[in-house]
Amino acid sequence: MIRPFFLENGELLVLDQRLLPREERWLTVRDCEGAAGVISTMAVRGAPAIGCVAAWGMAFAAREIAARDEDDPARREALREAGRRLVATRPTAVNLPWAVTRMLAVADATPVAGWPAQLAQEADAIAVEDLSFCRAIGRHGLCALPPGRLTLLTHCNAGALATAGYGTALGVVRALAGEGRLARVYADDTRPRQQGARLTAWELHREGLPVTLIADTVAGMLMQRRAIDAIVTGADRIARNGDSANKIGTYQLAVMAAHHGVPFFIAAPTTTVDMDCASGDDIVIEERDPDEVRRIDDVLVAPADVDVFNPAFDVTPGSLISAIITERGVARPSYRETLAGMMQKA
Ligand code: MRU
Repeated sequence: MIRPFFLENGELLVLDQRLLPREERWLTVRDCEGAAGVISTMAVRGAPAIGCVAAWGMAFAAREIAARDEDDPARREALREAGRRLVATRPTAVNLPWAVTRMLAVADATPVAGWPAQLAQEADAIAVEDLSFCRAIGRHGLCALPPGRLTLLTHCNAGALATAGYGTALGVVRALAGEGRLARVYADDTRPRQQGARLTAWELHREGLPVTLIADTVAGMLMQRRAIDAIVTGADRIARNGDSANKIGTYQLAVMAAHHGVPFFIAAPTTTVDMDCASGDDIVIEERDPDEVRRIDDVLVAPADVDVFNPAFDVTPGSLISAIITERGVARPSYRETLAGMMQKA
């Protein structure tokens, strides 16, 4: 099974996704700063995966702080500071602050001497849960999607590499393939970071699943030719009205899907739903280094000093989303009611 991280001898080994598909190199993370580093440089990426790695960053911080000779309030404040450091690495995916908040709640309820064991156990539990959520999303996706054998289109990488394993959108793809219902997946290249080409194509191709890589600009033509039965993507933050932030380019896919009558699905765990966020207007969109657009790897493909606008995410309005597939079931419009009901379910 493809997995982007695993624990070994008290250290977290993280697959450096920046090097895929050329090289499989594992980075060793042993402290909070190391966890913040692999998240901010996108060695690990994808909303659930960065939540899991941030949880381990908190566990490592707790281990180090618990060994200090300081008074109790100072050590608790130091752990909060570690949480702030992790949350600041990437602003859009809500799984990151969600995981840090969950780890802090465990720390608050535990004597400092118990932190190393308790927080490591909690970080492990978050990853175990995420994997089971992804499998449940896959199962629910089977009922949410149109019947029969399907050709899907996906954007970015919402796969095993973006989660604790199996994936959200690619979890639906895997479940469909398991039922013999997957005709093909078209994977958008996903400029500028090319998660579709580097990661989704690698992940699916490696498992022998039928994947065709396309430039982002090809998606409209495929829909016009009626070659796509449904689009399934992940999400980084879902507002309570269903507006969903995901990798830049998702919005234009949803608009084209509406024009062509192609159903558009978001597949995400409820840890990606932010009930404190009323609508997409409240979602902070990360802007990244202009060189991600000016260059492909280290090769300059534009004037070195040309102005660049490089938002990492966009927001697809809930009105363009046919259904949101979660581990608890499938939410359909109107999302204000269905998501509220779903978030109340145990
Ligand atoms: O910038 P990235 O690669 O972290 O963006 C990832 C995405 O947009 C994914 O679609 C999203 O996090 C869902 S991952 C299951």
